[in-house]
Amino acid sequence: MELTEAVQRRHMTRSFSDRPLEPGVLDRLLALALRAPSAGHTQGREFVVLEGSEQTAPFWEATTDEAWRARSRRYEGLSRAPVVVLAFADSEAYVARYREPDKLPPEGSDVGWVVPFWFVDAGFAVMTLLLGAADAGLGSAFLGNFRGEEALRAALGVPERLGWLGAVLLGEASGPDPRPVSAHRPRRTLGDSVHRGGW
Ligand SMILES: Cc1cc2nc3c(=O)[nH]c(=O)nc-3n(C[C@H](O)[C@H](O)[C@H](O)COP(=O)(O)O)c2cc1C
Repeated sequence: MELTEAVQRRHMTRSFSDRPLEPGVLDRLLALALRAPSAGHTQGREFVVLEGSEQTAPFWEATTDEAWRARSRRYEGLSRAPVVVLAFADSEAYVARYREPDKLPPEGSDVGWVVPFWFVDAGFAVMTLLLGAADAGLGSAFLGNFRGEEALRAALGVPERLGWLGAVLLGEASGPDPRPVSAHRPRRTLGDSVHRGGW
């Protein structure tokens, strides 16, 4: 598949089958994600991979509540995803990297971190994972998280220094995929978003 096609085909899948990924596919996708660029080649992104319902169930239990699970039109289809990849950003790796001689500003002070590169880089890696999934003919979704982070981290033993971006669901797209409100928002065009030669 050409890159353009993968970009155009990629969309958030919210209904999966529980069929496991073919052997080797997940590692190939994760290896692609690790090819994403990173500031100073720091590569401070970490992934916790949950495979199969025994591992993914605790993710859903921690990050959703019973009332939502009962009323959501999407919970069943989402929670069937055979793989959940939790993406984390390691700020300390960047602070350390930008204290190395080739990065340290002449005055010797730390970089101001106007932009938190660790989240930028982890976002690039997640995007690569999503595109790789589209390329492999798989469904994928990125979910931000609003609850249960502490419980999930404790259950999985995730070090405190890591900032959590959210979860990538991967699997075979299957079943009715109810479109959320967001999907009805029109795509912004070049005319809306691009400011040539200045704002
Ligand atoms: C940072 C971020 C958080 C998101 N969180 C959720 C989420 O929690 N639940 C969900 O269904 N979709 C979530 N989405 C998906 C967006 O709704 C989706 O990307 C947008 O509607 C455009 O649709 P498309 O990705 O299918 O083209 C998230 C996307 C991003 C980039």
